Amino acid sequence: MAYLLEKPIEVARDHFLLRLQSESSAVPGQFVNLKIGATLDPLLRRPFSVYNCSDGIIEIIVRVVGRGTAWLRDYAEIGAIDMLPPMGKGFTLIEKGRALLVGGGVGNAPLYYLAKSLKERKVFVEYIFGAQNAEAIFLRDAYERICDAVHIMTDDGSCGEKGFATDCVGTLKSLLFDAVYTCGPVPMMAALVEIFRPSNSVVEASVENYFGCGVGLCSGCVVETNSGNRRACIDGPVFDARTVIWRKE
Ligand SMILES: Cc1cc2nc3c(=O)[nH]c(=O)nc-3n(C[C@H](O)[C@H](O)[C@H](O)COP(=O)(O)OP(=O)(O)OC[C@H]3O[C@@H](n4cnc5c(N)ncnc54)[C@H](O)[C@@H]3O)c2cc1C
Ligand code: FES
Repeated sequence: MAYLLEKPIEVARDHFLLRLQSESSAVPGQFVNLKIGATLDPLLRRPFSVYNCSDGIIEIIVRVVGRGTAWLRDYAEIGAIDMLPPMGKGFTLIEKGRALLVGGGVGNAPLYYLAKSLKERKVFVEYIFGAQNAEAIFLRDAYERICDAVHIMTDDGSCGEKGFATDCVGTLKSLLFDAVYTCGPVPMMAALVEIFRPSNSVVEASVENYFGCGVGLCSGCVVETNSGNRRACIDGPVFDARTVIWRKE
């Protein structure tokens, strides 16, 4: 259980910030499972990555795509909301050196808390924020406040540089990173992994595929890896990205 502290705040077109008071804390890369609606329909909870966690408050970013996320957007009752505590395997935090974080769309959400945690360890953080257009960029100031460098990429060039997040990688001054972390569309993550596969960097991806039960019981969230199928809800959502067999459907 958690407590919604205020009405969802619109932070970009169709993107809302929810602030939830919770007794549980989270590590970067974990997700929370929220019950949608007051009845058994829809039955399945919806997973959302932790955008930020501090002082007993968990923040998430919800992009409205369907029934459940629209319900959350319209949820106006300040007070108790049915949330399972943060779960899943988070990112491996390096203790020093340089990190590259590459997010696409709402996949930028878990990377904020990661960037913040890396900065607390004095890691140099370079960030590529990819989005479809200017209207889909959320909380840009927050990312710019904590990261050492932020590059904005939009598909249509309406903000930052025109192109995909991965197009930006080739323009960076140095590709020497101790760790590369990503979350976003599969083609973006797959392309990024290929760029860094030969390097010595840690390369990790948060895989936000379809979830069923969200607690390890249904195998609805299977991710193919080179050591067999893994359930994203309990073995992930963060994986060693080199081990994932990326299907660019
Ligand atoms: C580990 C994890 C973390 C996530 N973190 C976030 C987050 O931080 N913020 C956020 O907004 N969303 C996040 N998602 C996705 C979010 O859970 C879905 O968008 C949500 O469940 C959709 O619910 P709905 O009832 O609104 O949509 P539905 O009515 O169930 O579906 C509406 C449309 O969205 C598509 N859809 C549903 N789920 C997904 C998905 N996982 N990937 C791609 N398309 C999907 C459906 O195919 C359909 O076309 C995450 C998913 C996972 C697995
Ligand atoms: S969503 Fe059911 S096992 Fe992962």
